[in-house]
Amino acid sequence: MKTVTITILLLTLTTSHAMVRGRDYMKEKVCQEFNVLGKEKFRAGAIIASSRKYSNATYEEIMNVVNEILSIAEKCCPEGADPDCYENESVALSAKSCRETAPFPKHPGIAACCTEVGLERKLCLAALKHPPKEFPTYEEITDATVCEDFARDPQGFADRYLYEYSTDYSSAPLPVLAASTTSYLSMVTSCCTSAQPTMCFLKEKFSRRSAVMLTKVSNKICSHYDLLGKERTKFSYITKFAQKSTNASLDDVIALATDASEVFSRTCNSTTDDSFQRELLEHTTKICSKLSTKDQRFDGCCKDANTLRAYFCIYSLPWAKSPNLPDFQTPADEDLCKNVMFPTNGHYLFEIARRYTYAPEALFSVMFESSKNVVTSCCNDTDPKACFAVKRPQMKAQIFNLLEKGNELCSEYTHLTFLEFKKKLRETYRKALPEATEEVLSGLVEQRSTFASTCCLMNAPPIYCGLQIKTGVSQTCSSDVCLLH
Ligand SMILES: *[C@@H]1O[C@H](CO)[C@@H](O)[C@H](O)[C@H]1NC(C)=O
Ligand SMILES: *[C@@H]1O[C@H](CO)[C@@H](O)[C@H](O)[C@H]1NC(C)=O
Ligand SMILES: *[C@@H]1O[C@H](CO)[C@@H](O)[C@H](O)[C@H]1NC(C)=O
Ligand SMILES: *[C@@H]1O[C@H](CO)[C@@H](O)[C@H](O)[C@H]1NC(C)=O
Ligand SMILES: *[C@@H]1O[C@H](CO)[C@@H](O)[C@H](O)[C@H]1NC(C)=O
Repeated sequence: MKTVTITILLLTLTTSHAMVRGRDYMKEKVCQEFNVLGKEKFRAGAIIASSRKYSNATYEEIMNVVNEILSIAEKCCPEGADPDCYENESVALSAKSCRETAPFPKHPGIAACCTEVGLERKLCLAALKHPPKEFPTYEEITDATVCEDFARDPQGFADRYLYEYSTDYSSAPLPVLAASTTSYLSMVTSCCTSAQPTMCFLKEKFSRRSAVMLTKVSNKICSHYDLLGKERTKFSYITKFAQKSTNASLDDVIALATDASEVFSRTCNSTTDDSFQRELLEHTTKICSKLSTKDQRFDGCCKDANTLRAYFCIYSLPWAKSPNLPDFQTPADEDLCKNVMFPTNGHYLFEIARRYTYAPEALFSVMFESSKNVVTSCCNDTDPKACFAVKRPQMKAQIFNLLEKGNELCSEYTHLTFLEFKKKLRETYRKALPEATEEVLSGLVEQRSTFASTCCLMNAPPIYCGLQIKTGVSQTCSSDVCLLH
């Protein structure tokens, strides 16, 4: 189904091309798709594309949209259809979407789009997207249940699967998602009708392993990219590489982090080919050529002849042990103002990350924001020196205190058993809060240990774990990371 979902999106998703070339371009693309693929594949593509876009919508809402799209295509795409048909119908659809009672997915941005008219309105509606789910809700069911459901209603089974899987992995590149869901449905179709379903499922699941893993990993990578944007993705990878390999050099880490952010900026939104996988393999080759000679763990991953599996291995490497490294030079005040990009200065970040290898990424984003605020305000001050003299020590104390605590918490979580970890937390709280009742202590321990078990990991769910996503957020900390204070 590689080509399926390519341009169906143009109905549900906007590109700058569509904006420039306008309505005929959209019609041409959608109808070409419909005519080439046929109704069934077009419909499957529309479910995937709509579920990716409205990952928080109900199944019924998605199917209502899909049915509308399908009915426009059926009515307006066949040869000989009225040339105005597509335009009239799609205007009518966007008018319908603007009604409060519309049976379509809800989105807080709809009202604003509906103040526009015509093409502007359609493009505005098309650009809306729900944020991705941080925790997948799709649950694997047993093969027997799968086959029962499938036998009862093959079409309904396929639709619901496409919806559930695509809303869960809504940030995976479209071709990755399309390939993975197609291969699942073809496995179900052939195994449920096979003479030996159990054997068939075993065999097919084995051969789908890479596709499944690619969907999961690309979903995480690309939702993280959407959250941070290109520049901050680069800093995120500087942190990750430095925390995974304390032997890696600054130059290698910067080069690889830059490559990662460029690759993902090009490929996470690609709709037409397998560029995500292709470029990921090239990126992996670069990682291996730079780091396998310096780091045993990278070397271990890179020994796998299957480059995709080598990437999954690298991606899943946990934090390296925090080494004892000598102090490093922090930038002088004057240099901070010369380089506006500080604190995004990769060098400084590299030095910190390789010393606090267990510090969760959210803490680096607190660091990023608060140092950026100080730098921008002091460099703009009439007396930068005086301003820095007051604010920099405060900022440093705050940041290093946080890093220290986060690093300690996650290091303990990593090295102790969960029971020992909780016991230790309880002792710490008991000392800090001698008046607290056992019940209160238990609540605190639960809260902190739940946080640790979700967030003391590389590739933790970013929003839940407190990654600050907006730039210019105030220094007040508004998430669980603040518990670390
Ligand atoms: C997603 O849906 C839930 C339940 O309907 C709602 O509470 C939540 O605000 C929605 N989130 C978004 C981002 O629309
Ligand atoms: C499209 O809309 C225009 C203006 O509202 C109308 O004149 C025309 O008949 C419509 N065409 C079709 C095929 O519905
Ligand atoms: C993907 O996004 C980049 C910018 O992030 C943009 O330059 C590119 O045109 C987009 N590609 C597609 C296919 O939309
Ligand atoms: C880091 O480099 C040193 C010296 O080459 C080597 O002994 C050590 O094993 C390396 N560490 C890792 C994690 O590979
Ligand atoms: C710096 O000062 C200029 C002029 O006073 C102002 O326009 C700008 O917003 C200030 N920038 C910051 C980051 O405070």
